[in-house]
Amino acid sequence: MKIVVVGTGYVGLVSGVCFSDFGHEVICVDTNQDKVDMLRRGEVPIFEPNLDTLMRSNMEAGRLSFSTDLKSSLEAVDAVFIAVGTPTRRGDGHADLQYVFAAAEEIARSLSDYAVVVTKSTVPVGTNRQIADIMAEAVPGLEFDVCSNPEFLREGAAIEDFMRPDRVVIGIESDRAAEVMDAIYRPLSLRDYPVVKTDLETAELIKYAANAFLATKITFINEMAALCERVGADIQQVAKGMGLDGRIGNKFLHAGPGYGGSCFPKDTMALARIGQEHASPMRIVETVIDVNERVKARMIDKIVDLCDDDLAGKKIAVLGVTFKPNTDDMRDAPSLTIIPALVGRGAEVRVVDPQGQAEGEALLPNVKWIENPYRAANNADAIVVLTEWNEFRGLNLERLAKKMNSPRMADLRNVYKREQVLAAGFERYVPVGIG
Ligand code: UDX
Ligand code: UDX
Repeated sequence: MKIVVVGTGYVGLVSGVCFSDFGHEVICVDTNQDKVDMLRRGEVPIFEPNLDTLMRSNMEAGRLSFSTDLKSSLEAVDAVFIAVGTPTRRGDGHADLQYVFAAAEEIARSLSDYAVVVTKSTVPVGTNRQIADIMAEAVPGLEFDVCSNPEFLREGAAIEDFMRPDRVVIGIESDRAAEVMDAIYRPLSLRDYPVVKTDLETAELIKYAANAFLATKITFINEMAALCERVGADIQQVAKGMGLDGRIGNKFLHAGPGYGGSCFPKDTMALARIGQEHASPMRIVETVIDVNERVKARMIDKIVDLCDDDLAGKKIAVLGVTFKPNTDDMRDAPSLTIIPALVGRGAEVRVVDPQGQAEGEALLPNVKWIENPYRAANNADAIVVLTEWNEFRGLNLERLAKKMNSPRMADLRNVYKREQVLAAGFERYVPVGIG
């Protein structure tokens, strides 16, 4: 099949590369000329493990190319995927659909034959019908069908998640379009991955429901962690005891500094708005949004407490700023709330992150970027483990303690154990959810 993907962000680029690896002919289109030039040189503008080698091998095979020219790309296309950003609109929490609608209109004006117009970006319920209206209005009589095909990939595991999905969700309302989508996803259905075929609104809602539920699960365990500290319980054991129940499952029960990223914060807010707009308020999701902010505030209190309630002049080494490991994405990372609060209280903050500096430098002024944890620990009054990069999991704790002015650690991802940290010479160790 011939496929065009509009938007080469995390989802668009991974989708385009993986579709070409299925054997389809793929053109990835983006309005950002610099990005397209970079992609044409075989360079990947984001950090995603193995994406560069997979992209280059499919480019060499002649199945994958990049362009800024949508019209010529759409010649004889079977399906065009919209994967442009749907950020949170300034101020009101709605999903900003301007890029999606702009892409839809441009696609309508560029199509010469029938094609399926597939929305992969996360969009509110009803958007696919709006896309159909926009296209029919732009070019009356145009032959096309719309399809909702939300993506569930996680950054840092994107190729694995795309190639071995728990399920493929397809919202579709025409047999002709269904045949096209079956042909596109045949490599997955041959390997017997479940395909959920449903109507447009249901497919759109499945995506929000899944993300909001995952954000709720994380927030639930984060609230339990606070209680554990009060009653002297161990959140990791609570999570283990819960997770062994097949109905709960052990995933997404790691207590931490709160969820971040380009999806959970945006999608929970959008779903809360959708509930309000349809007089069916999503009160649990609204509470999750509120509690997640409080979790970050609680982390700040932890660090202040670790430094004897006074950060003025204290040197704090923060390990990890990206919203999770194995990504360079800083969108809504908890570090963007926590670190400015430390600086605001007079701390001198040093930051170590294997991938975060490129994006982080502009977002985190007034911090020093240090290339490794040991240098960052020099004469420091506290170390904060904020993102659980593998590089931070096996540190020489004795060596760290010796370098520090006062060896204290706030371990916001429970990477270490209290006994081992204290035995290595630290005088205080503060985890999350362990009383
Ligand atoms: C996007 C959506 O933001 C998210 O809601 C959904 O869950 C997954 O897809 P992401 O791929 O991270 O997430 O988007 P983003 O990183 O914002 O990249 C979007 C790309 O589209 C950018 O490269 C941008 O240059 C491009 N774009 C944007 C277009 O090509 N055309 C436009 O009109 C606007
Ligand atoms: C998420 C969804 O998992 C994915 O299906 C969807 O397509 C996009 O949004 P992503 O945002 O890339 O993926 O990261 P994810 O691994 O889900 O983590 C999201 C946030 O939750 C991160 O800040 C992470 O640190 C946090 N998290 C995750 C926890 O705090 N505890 C956990 O147990 C799991």
